[in-house]
Amino acid sequence: MEELIFATNNKHKLQEVSEILRDCVVIHSLAERGLSGDIPETADTLEGNALQKAQWVYERTGADCFADDTGLEVDALGGRPGVYSARYAGEHCTFDDNVNKMLREMEGQQNRKARFRTVICLLEKGVPRYFEGCVEGSILTERYGQGGFGYDPIFMPDRFAVSYAEMPLEVKNRISHRGLAVAKLVDYLTHKTQ
Ligand code: IMP
Repeated sequence: MEELIFATNNKHKLQEVSEILRDCVVIHSLAERGLSGDIPETADTLEGNALQKAQWVYERTGADCFADDTGLEVDALGGRPGVYSARYAGEHCTFDDNVNKMLREMEGQQNRKARFRTVICLLEKGVPRYFEGCVEGSILTERYGQGGFGYDPIFMPDRFAVSYAEMPLEVKNRISHRGLAVAKLVDYLTHKTQ
């Protein structure tokens, strides 16, 4: 089976993506390859950050690898926080800080439309290829559910009556922004070997 390093320090993502790719790729974490420390993500687009993170791993290992970058784009906030979703409430903020700030900024707002967008950058022998997944939904007025991470308790995807945090992981994986992007990656990896 093909082996890829996933350039993330987020154990929730590692678990989500390893589960989806279980049958077609062996995923190695950064820790398994002896890599630690903060991976820089200083670009101003999701594509740029995904490339930067994957290149960081490639430069240190020479191995095929991939990275993802995700943004939550809220219409009433002019597309914010977008590429800055991780640091929305400031440097070194927690998921809870971000959710609290979002609930505050959206208080009384009628237009609650938002989307999660993920871009994956796969580096094969250093050559980039991009895969994108996008899910439309809305920002809830309070937290619902205990699962997931990040903005999951306040994001409800269209055509569902529950938040991401209320879904079993298998369901979130199947329908989520990252799930859709990973499905495109799987499609590419399985077809290129046939
Ligand atoms: P990242 O740069 O891809 O790690 O994503 C930026 C930020 O978006 C994260 O710190 C989370 O707050 C948020 N995020 C990414 N993916 C998800 C998700 O699946 N659910 C909820 N929040 C997410």
